[in-house]
Amino acid sequence: MNRLELKRVQHNQKIPPKLVSLISGKGGVGKSVLAFNLAERCAAVGQKVLLVDTDFNFGNQHILANVKCEYGIKEFIDGKLSLKEAVTRVSSQLDILPAVNSHIVFHDSDMPVYAKMIKNLRYQGTEYDLIIIDHSSGVSKVSTMIAFASDINLLVLVPELTSISDSYGLFKYLKETNKNINCRLLINRVQSEEEAEYIYSKFYVVAERFLKVAPQLMGFIPEDKLFVKSLAAQSPLSAIDAQSVVVQKLNMLGQELRRQLLNIYHHKNINNQKTNNKNMAVADIKE
Ligand SMILES: Nc1ncnc2c1ncn2[C@@H]1O[C@H](COP(=O)(O)OP(=O)(O)OP(=O)(O)O)[C@@H](O)[C@H]1O
Ligand SMILES: [Mg+2]
Repeated sequence: MNRLELKRVQHNQKIPPKLVSLISGKGGVGKSVLAFNLAERCAAVGQKVLLVDTDFNFGNQHILANVKCEYGIKEFIDGKLSLKEAVTRVSSQLDILPAVNSHIVFHDSDMPVYAKMIKNLRYQGTEYDLIIIDHSSGVSKVSTMIAFASDINLLVLVPELTSISDSYGLFKYLKETNKNINCRLLINRVQSEEEAEYIYSKFYVVAERFLKVAPQLMGFIPEDKLFVKSLAAQSPLSAIDAQSVVVQKLNMLGQELRRQLLNIYHHKNINNQKTNNKNMAVADIKE
């Protein structure tokens, strides 16, 4: 039994699940494959995990997980299905809320609907320890609102100038809009640890100088051909090669994530501080 579960039993109370978002400025940087494999790795160590696909128009988590789904997030948002009814089981520890049949054009007037979706994820998702949310790329109002409501955001970037520049732009926007957002860098597709450290140091210097914020590095994931094999087989990386470096890195990432979430749980005042948050809907959905 992990400490979170122990606390739950000790206090005989339901602890709301923790929300982790994978976001990016530029598209195609690996959010979806990392969200899926991170969810699978956390599930493999006994966490009860829900993977939510909020890439409403181009969701592909059900393809990665190789499960057939006829309903999912759209029906959950519409209130036609409860969370329990809308999810699809991938394994005993992992469910997905897929984005199927969910072609959505966002209107500002819809924002309360999406705020309610996050609130319902927390309240109806109490059987989960962890809810991992895969976003579409860029800055939509909905994506920003979900990011503000998340306990941790992993800002995924790759070692390309455009990705570094776009991720800095997103980081700046998020921090300037809500200085308390928990947003950490996850550098993907690196050739070496030195390359990851070099990118992080550049990002750090610029953020510290212009935003007066010290960005945190969550981790890095190496470039690996295993991703191609895993996609082709519609299997997690661990099913292709459990001993590979990339799977070890994902295990470490999952471990670090759980450690930080536990810290947030123990010091939840950090996330309950009064914020200068400009989006009123978030006050409702942030735990
Ligand atoms: N570390 C890696 N090594 C090799 N290939 C990778 C790695 N990470 C991601 N890829 C590949 O990059 C491609 C894009 O990944 P993915 O679809 O997860 O990106 P995304 O950020 O979700 O894109 P979008 O913004 O379009 O949703 C996929 O083919 C994936 O296999
Ligand atoms: Mg994606």
